[in-house]
Amino acid sequence: MYSIDSQKLILKLTQELCKRQLSVGDIDDLKIVLRFHEWSYYINNESLISDMDFDLLFNQLRKLEADNPLLITPDSPTQRVANDLTESKDAVKHLSPMLSLDNSYNPADLNSFDETIKKLTSIDSDVKITYCVEPKYDGGSVAFVYTADAIERAATRGNGSMGEEMTANAKTLPTIPLRATFSEHGIHQVELRGEAVIHKERFSKINEEREKAGLPVFANPRNAASGGLRMKNPNETRQRGIEVFLFQMGYAVDLDGNDVLKDMDSHYDQINLLGQLGFKIPTSQKKKCEGIAEVNEFIQSWEEKRDSYDYEIDGMVVKVDSQELQNKCGFTQHHPRWAIAYKFKAKQASTKLLDVEYQIGKIGSITPVAKLEPVQLAGVTISSVSLHNEEFIQTKDLRLGDTVLVERAGDVIPYIVKTIEEYRDGSEKKVVFPTHCPSCETKLIKSENEAAWRCVNSECPAQALQRMIYHVSKEAMDIDGFGKSYVEQFQALGWLRDMSDIYNLDYDSIASLEGFGQRSATNLKQAIDKAKSNPISRLLNSLTIHHLGKKASKLIAGEIQHVLDLKDWTTEHFTNIKDIGPVVADNVIAYFADQANIDLLERLEARGVNLYQKEEDKPVELATDGIFSGKTILFTGSLQTMGRKEAQQLAATAGAKAISAVSGNLDILVVGEKAGSKLKKAQALGTVDILTEEEFVKLISDK
Ligand code: IVH
Repeated sequence: MYSIDSQKLILKLTQELCKRQLSVGDIDDLKIVLRFHEWSYYINNESLISDMDFDLLFNQLRKLEADNPLLITPDSPTQRVANDLTESKDAVKHLSPMLSLDNSYNPADLNSFDETIKKLTSIDSDVKITYCVEPKYDGGSVAFVYTADAIERAATRGNGSMGEEMTANAKTLPTIPLRATFSEHGIHQVELRGEAVIHKERFSKINEEREKAGLPVFANPRNAASGGLRMKNPNETRQRGIEVFLFQMGYAVDLDGNDVLKDMDSHYDQINLLGQLGFKIPTSQKKKCEGIAEVNEFIQSWEEKRDSYDYEIDGMVVKVDSQELQNKCGFTQHHPRWAIAYKFKAKQASTKLLDVEYQIGKIGSITPVAKLEPVQLAGVTISSVSLHNEEFIQTKDLRLGDTVLVERAGDVIPYIVKTIEEYRDGSEKKVVFPTHCPSCETKLIKSENEAAWRCVNSECPAQALQRMIYHVSKEAMDIDGFGKSYVEQFQALGWLRDMSDIYNLDYDSIASLEGFGQRSATNLKQAIDKAKSNPISRLLNSLTIHHLGKKASKLIAGEIQHVLDLKDWTTEHFTNIKDIGPVVADNVIAYFADQANIDLLERLEARGVNLYQKEEDKPVELATDGIFSGKTILFTGSLQTMGRKEAQQLAATAGAKAISAVSGNLDILVVGEKAGSKLKKAQALGTVDILTEEEFVKLISDK
């Protein structure tokens, strides 16, 4: 429908329109641009503009048309609501139009919404309006008609007045009762609206299964749910695990055809009535708020916790609660005047890929990092993101100057989803991956089964810097107050060539540095001295031997008296330890075969760092005849009477082995205060014994 050339032109035009003040002469261009983005999103399933920019252009067109009504044409995007109709023959007319929602993005927008409501209803500005606020579920909109208490028909939203019929599919959805006793409430026929969604965990499973079966994965739960509603085979709809949250009664009449909706009291109560009748509704997720300030507070609390909620939501919906006031406000062609959506900060945005820089890791791995034109994502400015490795750049065909789509979902670090090819104008440049280390110019190598190129020069200054940063970090030697910037500063001053220099610093020189002083130099000395007597498991981990992590370091530390014992270890010594494989063995052997490393360890020891096994290094002995022998245990939440380590040791005396995740292997979960997802997961498994801290202690002391 749109040639590649015309798409490029329209995208250029989009960027231009988004940037400048618009006037009546832009109306035609706005229509072209909005029509194209509707097509791209709804028909071509590709979002080439952020929701916010789309709304911005849409609202500008609406405003320009309102000021110049003669220029409104029937085909203007403002004259219809968005469409999800495919070329289905089974289109049905909704009993009342399924409108859209107006959008807001900040508290100021909500305040002016509140003011408008008061004007529309002639309510004094100091009176608090009661609003019902509920999540804006990010799924597919559906309408269900019940007549004489039985489900009669279901349809997608379609263009708002006509939807695609999908009754057979809807009847497979467990959250949709086939019968509901509306008649007991004087309702003969009713049309209910809701959002079809998929639980986040269910969604991950679906994609895992699809990946295994070689099928393309869904980009998000919304696509999986909307697509699921339209399956030809209802059985496939059922298997997708779709749930529907109801959010509105759109139409309700009694036996004589009289409107019973307009006489109902409150939206909040209408939704709760649906809950009583067996439908899924937002329960504690919705709130009746007195006044717009309380609305703002509730919305903010949801924006903070949206990622830990089980379903995707992209905002909150604010609705005037009183039906009487709703009737007074009425509707525009596009949306009810009594409701507004509050959109959370975007998780996706497009920006320019300006450059690629290369970071050298502590074992010499080269990580390409994209430098981006700074962009706001879910409230944070993003200007650089990792590109992982060369293959990532190639598969995504990223080029310098490209416009890329960046996503930041929850705790996940931001990443580039894709390049928007349509924005290319031919000036983009290929990313050329370096062949030599950007720091020491050694030729880079890549082993067969690794994704990263590596610099193998053990004296590479960039690697030494990263190794020292890791050495002092919490994970490794845990030197309090010794952060990355000190390591960088001291290395630049020539005081740190390798990690042994950390234990040979001149504190008088440090005290005289700008920003330091006697006190901070003394604190640093104390922290470094303390680290000298760390258990050797920490030291082993701090050496940054490829593949030797915290856990393997602990296991190995338990088997040696002195770190240099490892000089004589063979592969068997390592692989005799449960959970240590040949890869770790090879890397540790190679490390101890290198005289430069032995010299380093000797220097460390000479400068006071402990190389002997300590009590803490010894493996915890599991009792074989304890009450928990043969069982696995996990502690979650904050324990009140003991620390985590102490609890694990106590459990070991009763024979239980501590593990770190909830899975089918877990036997016992001990729950402290504020336990979260681990408890939920264990409950869902149904096979885990769940104990409170008190029960755990009692069982052990009673044994
Ligand atoms: S009320 C006439 N409430 O958002 C009022 N809509 O952008 C119509 N949505 O088409 C909508 N959660 O599919 C309402 N709690 C909620 C909602 C909700 C999700 C969807 C709905 C609507 C779209 C508008």
